[in-house]
Amino acid sequence: MNIVFLGAPGAGKGTQASMLAKKYQIPHISTGDIFRQNIKDQTPIGLVAKGYIDRGQLVPDEVTVELVKGRICQDDCVNGFILDGFPRDVAQAEALANFAKIDAVIDIVIPLDRLTKRLTGRRICAKCGESYHVDFLGGVSNCSKCDGELIQRADDTVETVQNRLNVYTVKTAPVIEFYENTGLLKDVNGDQPVQDVFQEIIEVLNDLH
Ligand code: AP5
Repeated sequence: MNIVFLGAPGAGKGTQASMLAKKYQIPHISTGDIFRQNIKDQTPIGLVAKGYIDRGQLVPDEVTVELVKGRICQDDCVNGFILDGFPRDVAQAEALANFAKIDAVIDIVIPLDRLTKRLTGRRICAKCGESYHVDFLGGVSNCSKCDGELIQRADDTVETVQNRLNVYTVKTAPVIEFYENTGLLKDVNGDQPVQDVFQEIIEVLNDLH
């Protein structure tokens, strides 16, 4: 099954996509994670992406579309994949429709005013990428899975989060309408505990069979 996760920054796309990828045994493809890895490795793509990501803007479509096109052609995607963070504007959605058949689009819906706190309080493991929130860390500063150092993402500052939310409203929200017109769109309530969101996603996907 080829699945797209939509949702504002901090809606829980990464959290849910990672859980679903484990359950379905298909790859979780996060364009944000791919860009961050490229930035860490100082690749040409990373050098282009860094300025945009640090400002909370979208990396140009021509870079992002080619990246995803190349990624979903890889062998591990033959039984399906989950796209997290792509498509992010209508041009990307149109491009995707030309090179992949999408079976379901899950929109994780949550009021935008809930998201600033989620994002500015997020800490990620520098080693394995696991995500935490300061409210639940109780002062712990290392990853419970691999003992890596917990750090704040460079784009999780208050100012950049605001830019990301603005970009979402202007550029990504129209993608919802694009998929409404295809009949693929399913809404899930993102403003509930992680496991409840996951349960709702599983039910939506089971209904498609
Ligand atoms: P990306 O990495 O995709 O960031 P994002 O869309 O802003 O999404 P996040 O990763 O911040 O949030 P999420 O929805 O995955 O939430 P998460 O599960 O982590 O993109 C970063 C940048 O890369 C972009 O700004 C852009 O510059 C560039 N980029 C990426 N894709 C691109 C594209 N296609 N085109 C152009 N540029 C692109 O959860 C967030 C926090 O909330 C965590 O702390 C988590 O623990 C917590 N949480 C999750 N679910 C719940 C819940 N139910 N209840 C309470 N807390 C929760």
